[in-house]
Formats: sequence, C-alpha cells, structure tokens
Amino acid sequence: MTEPAILPPGRSLPMLDASAPPLALGRPAERPADERIDEYRPDTPALPRFAIWTLGCQMNRSDSEEMAGRLLAAGCDEASNVETADLIVINTCSIREAAEQKVIGRQGQLAKLKAAHPGLRVVLTGCSVREPDRAGLHRRYPAVDLFLRPDEEPELIDRLGLASAQADIGIGSPTGLTTLVGRTIVGAADRLAESRAAAVGGGAIRRESATSAWLPIVYGCDKTCTYCIVPFSRGPERSRPFDEVLHEARGLAAAGYREVTLLGQNVNSYGHDLPAEARFDGIDPERSVGRLQDRRGRPDLAELLRAIDAIRMADGRPAIPRLRFVTSHPWDLSDRLIAAMADCPSVCEHLHLPVQSGEDAVLRRMGRQYTIKHYLERLSRIRAAVPGIAISTDVIVGFCGETEAQFQGTLRLLEVVGYDQVFAAAYSVRPGTPAAHLVDDVPPATKRRRLNELLAFQEAIGFERNRARAGSTVEVLVETIVPARGHDHDTETPPGRPRPGARPGTVHLTGRSRAHTLVHFDGSADLVGRLVDVRIGHAGPYSLRGALA
Ligand code: SAH
Ligand code: SF4
Ligand code: F3S
Repeated sequence: MTEPAILPPGRSLPMLDASAPPLALGRPAERPADERIDEYRPDTPALPRFAIWTLGCQMNRSDSEEMAGRLLAAGCDEASNVETADLIVINTCSIREAAEQKVIGRQGQLAKLKAAHPGLRVVLTGCSVREPDRAGLHRRYPAVDLFLRPDEEPELIDRLGLASAQADIGIGSPTGLTTLVGRTIVGAADRLAESRAAAVGGGAIRRESATSAWLPIVYGCDKTCTYCIVPFSRGPERSRPFDEVLHEARGLAAAGYREVTLLGQNVNSYGHDLPAEARFDGIDPERSVGRLQDRRGRPDLAELLRAIDAIRMADGRPAIPRLRFVTSHPWDLSDRLIAAMADCPSVCEHLHLPVQSGEDAVLRRMGRQYTIKHYLERLSRIRAAVPGIAISTDVIVGFCGETEAQFQGTLRLLEVVGYDQVFAAAYSVRPGTPAAHLVDDVPPATKRRRLNELLAFQEAIGFERNRARAGSTVEVLVETIVPARGHDHDTETPPGRPRPGARPGTVHLTGRSRAHTLVHFDGSADLVGRLVDVRIGHAGPYSLRGALA
C-alpha cells in the first residue's frame, strides 16, 4: 500500500502494523450548530461510514450487532453499501473451507475499491482470525488492514482510533488475552461477558430486528469434536453471569421483543464455569449425562430458561412469548433442561440437536462423546416430556473413514428419528484440528453424492412431517414481506405484492411457527412483527402455506 501524498485532516490509525497508512477515514464529524462550541474541540475527528459483511452462524450475527452498535455509539454512520463505505468490517466464518474461500475470493474486489477510495479501511474479524495463523493472514487476505480475533472485537473502536475521538462512550474495551487449547494459542473469550454487559448498559447494540433478538449467554466451546475449528477460533467456554443475562432479557421484554434466542456454541453447557452461589444450591450436582462436572450451586440453562420465562406481563402471560436456544450438545441435554422445556410456556417446542453421524464408530472418530443409543434415549425423553416437539439436526457426510455402510447408517437414523429439518454438509478438513491428522479418504465426488442422496432422503421425511401439519392452525411470528418473483404466471408482480388471485390490500408474508417451520400466507403489511394464527392448507417439504385464521 502506498501512502497518499497529501494527508487529509483526521487522525492516524494506531491499529495496524508499522506499515499501516495514516487514517483517511470518511467525512469530518458534524460541526456543532453553534460555532463557539467548536473552540472547545481539540481536533476534528474523522468518522467513517461503515458497512459490515457477516458470514456464518447466529453467534456471528449477534457479534456484528454489537460491533455495529459500538461504531454507532462512537458517532459513525452506517453506509448503505460497501461501495460508499470508508470502513468495511468482515465478520468471517471458518467452519468449512468454502466459507473461508468466499472472503478470500473477494480480495481483488476489495483492492479495487481501495484503489478508487484510498481512505477505505478493511477490518477482518470472526473465526478466520486465529492466533497461530497471524502471519499467514496478510498473505491470504491482502486487502485487509486490521485483523481481530473474535474475542478482540470489543477493541474495534479503540484499535481504529475512534474511542478518543469522542467523549467516553462507556462501552468498555478490554485488551485481548490468549490461552492454550491443547498446544494451540487461541483467544481467551475471558472478558467478552464484561464487555457485552457494558455494551448493553451503553445501548451499544444495533439489533437486526425489532421483534427477534439474539442473546449470547456462553462464549467459546470446550468440546473436542475432532473435525471442528470452533474451539480454536473461539477459545474455551465462558458463561455470562446469570443476572446479566436476565437483565438483558428484561430489557428485551420491555422493548417489546416477541422472540429471544439464547446463543452459545454449546448453549446447554451454560453455567458450569460460573462461581457457585447459595441461591443455586438446589441445583443437583449429579448430571444425568456427560463428563463429571461439579455443578453444585452453579446456574444451568434450565434455571436460566425458568428465570426468563418468569418475566411476565400484568395478565400473567410471558413477556417474551417465544424463547429459543441454540446449539445444544447431546452430552449436556440434562433431565433438568428437559423438565424446564416442558414447564415453561414461552420455550418453543423445537430442539436443534446435532447428531453428525448415525454410526457409533464414526462418532468416536469425531470425538462426539455419545453413542446413538444415548442420543435416541435423550430424544425419546424429550418427546415424552414435550409432545409434538420438532427436532432438527446437523450431519456431516464423508468424514474420514466413513464407509458406504456407515453412510447408510446415517440415513437409517434420519428415518428412525423423523427429523423436521436437517442441515447437512460434506466434511471439510480444517487445518490445525485433530482430524487434520486423519486421512481425508472419502473422494470429493463420493462426498457430493452422499450429500445429495441424504438431502433427497430427508426431503421425503420433512415432507411427511409437514403434511401431518396440514389442516392445523399454527401460531406464526411474522418476519418478512416476500417480494414476488417477476415472472410469476407471466404477470409482472411488483415486490411485496401477493400472488395473483390474492385479495386486494394484502402482501405475501412469511414467518415461523413455534416449531420453527417456515409458513407462507397473505395478509396486510402491518402484520410484520406480530404473532398471528394461520390455518395450514398446503404442506411442502421445506415450508407450509396457509391463510390467516
Ligand atoms: N456447536 C454446534 C455447531 C457448530 S458448527 C454443534 O456442536 O452442533 C455447525 C455445524 O457445522 C456442525 O454441527 C457440523 O455439522 C458442521 N461442521 C463443523 N465442522 C465441520 C467440518 N470441518 N466440515 C463440515 N462440516 C462441519
Ligand atoms: Fe464444534 Fe463440537 Fe464445539 Fe460444536 S460442540 S462447536 S461441533 S467442537
Ligand atoms: Fe462459523 Fe465461527 Fe459460527 S466458524 S459457524 S462463525 S462459530
């Protein structure tokens, strides 16, 4: 990168390595209406217009909301697109190689944008930024100026030199710490809980939706799945203090949120790392499943669900009508959690419980720490406690050594369980993970074939599950107005209009049932964000269609 010949007024960027050019970020800050105030300003800070590109899971989406909130709180504006931005933040996912390639493949385009706008700065964060790879990051992402590990994201404002440009915005910015997972240095996630609390307190979270909110409760992952990069990207588990989560949930309830999803890579292991407290004495230290953990006196997800469910309206209904949580590990699906799900009216009748493979031998190589027998026992328990509960899962096909018979075993499991939804992917070697030492011996063409076969197999199962819902009335949280396709029935239908034949004054709406099934129906645009009853007329393999009841 070359330095611009004339430095624009503004601040230098303290974040980068020695070769970093001075900051040429964006437009100057708004001038005060009264010019006399200006003399008290030591300098004129430059505030970038920012754009955030988020890849990956809900945890990344939640993290991006926090980064956007911090940037807004620092006085920055959001750009309408990357072309008009002075600062691009890329929040990456590294779960599979394809996810990383999406960003690597954009480097040329970013370089062009930077050539056209020399003030543009690019920050790359999320799971692709891992401590041992620091040196290789510049080679892989040449258009990037600053790399932040996920646990360093709260430092974004400071590292961009924006914090001191403003008065103290009170949202805290701890310095990143590292720790060891095995022999690998990873972000410690140690102070994420603290900085989240500060961001919540300072109103520095720009939520994507005014209806559904993400609520992170535990950062990192302590599990040992051999194929998975997450523990190396996100570090060991750190739970947010019980009262802080509850405080954030109360705020969401007061703001009128209809749905809250508690987030964690391993959301149902919440609490084991928190200090013991007398008020949680009743929590049984005996765990029905999993490794030995001293849980005595420590809160767990069951306790948290009950406490959030207990936030009620004057008429006794839950203030947050829908409570969800992802992602659960079968190891940590305790009887206490099952009981809480059954008892709490706000907890949705849906459980995402990744199985990964239908064969014990493969699960052992994957380091999943459970058997299919155990998994099925947990499922039958929850199905008995919450009748009709929808179950979804994640599956990896073509893991190292997976034979054709073992793959068929996974298909059999899908049939036995009757999943409502399956997220499947072909195994992708992640450098630095334990499985990278195994032979990736299933050829790419075989992985693709197994993936397609599995998806087709599940399509029929999902179809069957949905058909059973036809004729019933389901509660739908209305999410979006769907733009009509341009050439439906040879008529040009402008976005937001219902299908031809629908009643006038209505648009095509979608939302989700409590079971998390996608539901299409026609209704007025003002229903977005509301809970409505829809009578299901038609079932497809991936969604339902109905009419307002
Ligand atoms: N913590 C969650 C989700 C982790 S990532 C859990 O344990 O379920 C989401 C999914 O990505 C995983 O469930 C797994 O199915 C998939 N996945 C993870 N690593 C992968 C890899 N190396 N190749 C292919 N899929 C992978
Ligand atoms: Fe990855 Fe396993 Fe942790 Fe899920 S539980 S994030 S698959 S290591
Ligand atoms: Fe991807 Fe990281 Fe989530 S690897 S799936 S963004 S935790």
